[in-house]
Amino acid sequence: MNKNFIEITPNDIEKNTFTMIGNEYMLITAKKDDKINTMTAAWGGLGVMWNKNVAYIVVRPQRYTKEFVDFADCFSLSFFNGEIKDKLAYLGTVSGRDEDKITKSGLTAIFEDNIPYFEEAKLVLFCKKLFISEFKEDNFIDKEIMNKNYPNKDFHTLYIGEIKKVLKK
Ligand SMILES: Cc1cc2nc3c(=O)[nH]c(=O)nc-3n(C[C@H](O)[C@H](O)[C@H](O)COP(=O)(O)O)c2cc1C
Repeated sequence: MNKNFIEITPNDIEKNTFTMIGNEYMLITAKKDDKINTMTAAWGGLGVMWNKNVAYIVVRPQRYTKEFVDFADCFSLSFFNGEIKDKLAYLGTVSGRDEDKITKSGLTAIFEDNIPYFEEAKLVLFCKKLFISEFKEDNFIDKEIMNKNYPNKDFHTLYIGEIKKVLKK
């Protein structure tokens, strides 16, 4: 384990989830073969499902990161306490298909149990995929949400992952 981090339990996460995800964003990172990719995400959540502590994330089909999350058994969620917003904006605008964006961002990718995450993170959740499902047009009760967010019908895929490890600075 990286010496800058300590392991805590999901119950020890004190920070407000809505702030963490909705306001300060997270990086979703996964490995495929010998490559890694990451993207910024502001939608998702932490909770309890099937008596397990879980995180859920949503990824649009065109994201390069989707190939990585689909391939890997596990992904990480890195949180930065509202710092490095410029880097998160960059990693959330440019695709890893087009640029070596992790290197360009200046962030340091490291591994825990073969799952990539970032040394600069303040909190990291390591999640094992349990469930995957694509959002479907018919399932939107509020059609306005559908029309507003999916004019191109590029529906997110939902992933629910069990939080297997939490590292904190
Ligand atoms: C603040 C912010 C939040 C974002 N949240 C999400 C998200 O939750 N799901 C998603 O699919 N894309 C989200 N994006 C868009 C991706 O991060 C962006 O398209 C990224 O360039 C994809 O990179 P990739 O092609 O290397 O995977 C967000 C972007 C920003 C800037």
